[in-house]
Amino acid sequence: MLKRFILVAVVTLLFVFQFPIANAAALELTEEDRTVLLNEQGEEIVLSQKEYALGQKIFNDTCSQCHNSGRTKTNPNVSLSKGDLAAAFPRRDNIEAMVDYLKVPYTYDGESEISVLHPNTKRSDLFAEMRNLTDDDLEALSGYILAQPKIRGEKFWGGGKVFN
Ligand code: HEC
Repeated sequence: MLKRFILVAVVTLLFVFQFPIANAAALELTEEDRTVLLNEQGEEIVLSQKEYALGQKIFNDTCSQCHNSGRTKTNPNVSLSKGDLAAAFPRRDNIEAMVDYLKVPYTYDGESEISVLHPNTKRSDLFAEMRNLTDDDLEALSGYILAQPKIRGEKFWGGGKVFN
């Protein structure tokens, strides 16, 4: 009798705990979450769930070792936060500009090319991990980054700045 009770209790607990976990995994981002700026003119696009997932995977595989949570490891003042991207020259807070950056990156003031220093597709001879990324991949990746401040909250994406 006791054994049976324990069994029922265990099964019940398993059910209770499994439910929220399964639901969280199935949670889909809203269209609003996936809406990002396309260009400097202010046009917007909605990433599909698939594009978002693709961008997330590429980010985790290729960028997160330096840009975990939107911060920039060796240069915290040039983070992936909304504010930092918007204040770069030219501004980088839209998909087209970020794709340009990932093809040929420049310093924050736009003065000098840094394609031998930062991962990009132009010098994929130096950055092998960028070699197989198509334009669609770069768009999905940029879209994922631009959606984060909205999804995680601005404080939790690119926060922890060091001013000097
Ligand atoms: C080896 C470390 C490293 C890796 C890997 C890396 N980055 Fe960076 N990233 C940096 C550094 C350092 C800077 C600041 C460069 C500067 O001083 O202008 C930067 C700057 C940037 C900027 C400009 C931010 C701004 O506010 O203007 C973007 C966008 C960016 N990275 C995206 C990416 C993406 C996307 C990937 C993955 C494909 C990536 N980075 C991989 C180190 C890295």
